Amino acid sequence: ATETIYKASTTAPVNIAVVKYWGKRDPKLNLPTNSSLSVTLSQADLRTLTTATCSATYQGEDSLILNDEPSDIKGARTQACLRELRARRAALEAENSSLPKLSTMPLRIVSENNFPTAAGLASSAAGFAALVRAIANLYELPSSPTELSLIARQGSGSACRSLFGGYVAWRGGEQADGLDSKAVEVAPASHWPNMRALILVVSAAKKGVSSTSGMQQTVATSDLFQGRIATVVPAHMDKMEAAIRDRDFPAFAEVTMKDSNSFHACCMDTYPPIYYMNDVSRAAVRAVEAINAAAGKTIAAYTFDAGPNAVIYYLEENSGPVVGTFYSLLQGTDGWKDGAKSYDSAAVKLD
Ligand code: PMV
Repeated sequence: ATETIYKASTTAPVNIAVVKYWGKRDPKLNLPTNSSLSVTLSQADLRTLTTATCSATYQGEDSLILNDEPSDIKGARTQACLRELRARRAALEAENSSLPKLSTMPLRIVSENNFPTAAGLASSAAGFAALVRAIANLYELPSSPTELSLIARQGSGSACRSLFGGYVAWRGGEQADGLDSKAVEVAPASHWPNMRALILVVSAAKKGVSSTSGMQQTVATSDLFQGRIATVVPAHMDKMEAAIRDRDFPAFAEVTMKDSNSFHACCMDTYPPIYYMNDVSRAAVRAVEAINAAAGKTIAAYTFDAGPNAVIYYLEENSGPVVGTFYSLLQGTDGWKDGAKSYDSAAVKLD
């Protein structure tokens, strides 16, 4: 039994926020200044696959291989996740002495994304969600997705939302210990199954300003940001939850676009300013406006994270005008060509 290798595998999907997490009230525990809400994309299209093993025969320290390359596991965020998971396993072992002492064994973790890691496609969200769930499965922890979200949040804030499919809120919480800062399901994907996301990879280059330092600079220097967290985001959360409940695409789209604009306005309001969107991003905004104007109603919504790539939400029945227009409009632009080379910009379903 001492040679046994214990093993568990899992996948976790990417999520793209429609009300953005931007700002930490506690950088150490990754506690946010505001609640956020996201849509989880299909695992068939974008996901991280993670296998965790442990064994008494393993020598040395914990290790992580990410996309075939040894990866640093020493960072405070990853260490916080491993520490929390080990502590929960150790508690189970203390209660039941017949359990193997997995908490004392080195971990070997192998992780693989089916999309470019550095493309600014929220790879850390899927990555930390998969890491936490794989080890929780290995340790046979009786934890719900919401409980695991408390751990994944400490790896990367947005990761807490990737423990669920469909429409997911991260309730920011108020407690200093962060125990009320966790993800909950707003609605399963089946509630509004015809939602689609078109991902336009404007640039697959690693983002210029990391989300951690961008957030820090925004909280420290943007005046607009104070209004965003005091009134803009709470109103967007309420409107977004109602839009999802009522399957009201125009309302969903308006909040999605306004929240992305508000977030990027705060980034530009920092001192010095941060520009995540570029000319190709702005061309995508104009394309969405043209598509909606031509349709005579709102059938497409753009949103941008901490980089120039666009995610366009639309309903399946409108894929002709939405996806068709993007393909013909952007084929000629340089940004689109480069992006298309490194990663197939693609329309994806929900999970
Ligand atoms: O989870 P982080 O630390 O990579 O931050 C994510 C920030 C945004 O993607 C811009 C917004 C969000 O809510 O996902």
